[in-house]
Amino acid sequence: MAHINANYLNIKESYLFSEVANRANKYKAENPGADVIRLGIGDVTRPLCPAVIEALHSAVNDMSETETFKGYGPEQGYGFLKESLRAYYAEKGVELDIDEIFVSDGAKSDLGNILDIFSKDNVVLVPDPVYPVYVDTNIMDGRKIVYLSANESNNFLPLPDENIKADLIYICSPNNPTGACYNREQLTQWVAYARKNNSVILYDAAYECFVSDDSLPRSIYEIEGAKECAIEFCSFSKTAGFTGTRCGYTVVPFALERDGHKLNKFWLRRQTTKFNGVSYIVQKAAAAVFTEEGKKQIYENINYYKENAKTITDTLDRLGIWYCGGKHSPYIWFRCPDNMGSWEFFDALLSKANVVGTPGEGFGENGKGYFRLTSFSTHENTKEAMKRFEKAFGNNG
Ligand code: MLT
Repeated sequence: MAHINANYLNIKESYLFSEVANRANKYKAENPGADVIRLGIGDVTRPLCPAVIEALHSAVNDMSETETFKGYGPEQGYGFLKESLRAYYAEKGVELDIDEIFVSDGAKSDLGNILDIFSKDNVVLVPDPVYPVYVDTNIMDGRKIVYLSANESNNFLPLPDENIKADLIYICSPNNPTGACYNREQLTQWVAYARKNNSVILYDAAYECFVSDDSLPRSIYEIEGAKECAIEFCSFSKTAGFTGTRCGYTVVPFALERDGHKLNKFWLRRQTTKFNGVSYIVQKAAAAVFTEEGKKQIYENINYYKENAKTITDTLDRLGIWYCGGKHSPYIWFRCPDNMGSWEFFDALLSKANVVGTPGEGFGENGKGYFRLTSFSTHENTKEAMKRFEKAFGNNG
């Protein structure tokens, strides 16, 4: 008889963003006339930029000719994209070897899959609130999870606590869901902790492009010693609008060893066995992001979203509502008006303003009483949503 992985009985029945979508869809079905604006899941609305579209067309043409047609590609990504990524890191002052870079279909997949190369006995440290993928994927494997409190008093940027020992440490900066961003000195403390305890930091840099201040790090490898203790995950989803196109990358430095083995070698082995690589067409599109025009065009889109973030934070400022994020991140994290609970506010915002957001509680205990909005909608919808927000909750901030 086949047996199930009983760890699945320990996770919530549905993934947070599926739950939010289900509730929003139910509301829409019951109120067909309602003009519902979705600022819940961080899904982009700007189309792919012209440089990317041009590369896609040209790659499709390559696939139509015998001379340029591509079959299976290298599981870890084509050299042309990995060279572009290496140059991108070099701009941040980070020197990488091309074989330290692995191209994938996105950061979420790699963040889950990386656990294949770690023992199930490892203790995992996650901040609370946290991106649910880090928690759910470890529960699926049966690992012990320890939570580190992120709250208003530490600006939602918890620092290492020597009394808490952990083997795997998740850090997301700029943070999902809070939008808070670690500075160099704070990340240096994390690197020192990981080195001292022989832990490995799993660093999610998916939102690095939103960092507005050059003094803030955009990669963990900007911190000395990080190559010996950190794996970095990044994605084109939020940077270049690839949520539907799918491409990301993970850096596993050669210098990172545990139990006398290079993790790079283990990850290569895992990927060559279980992953067939990202399509040539998509990798060509991703490489176009790093051309001069590509970079200019994606930053136009990022700035567009930043204007939305300002529309949201201006409204919260006017209403006197506490928030963080928005400056270096597409996410704005705020205290629910009128001391409401997160799901209570979710319902109130949906019914009074027809706006969908994400309840902070869905990201952990410390998210109770908080709420997350994204700046990834259109200008029109963001302005309209915040106008309705102000009308509905104007006296309660
Ligand atoms: C989010 O809304 O937190 C993200 O879109 C989820 C993701 O990137 O998987």
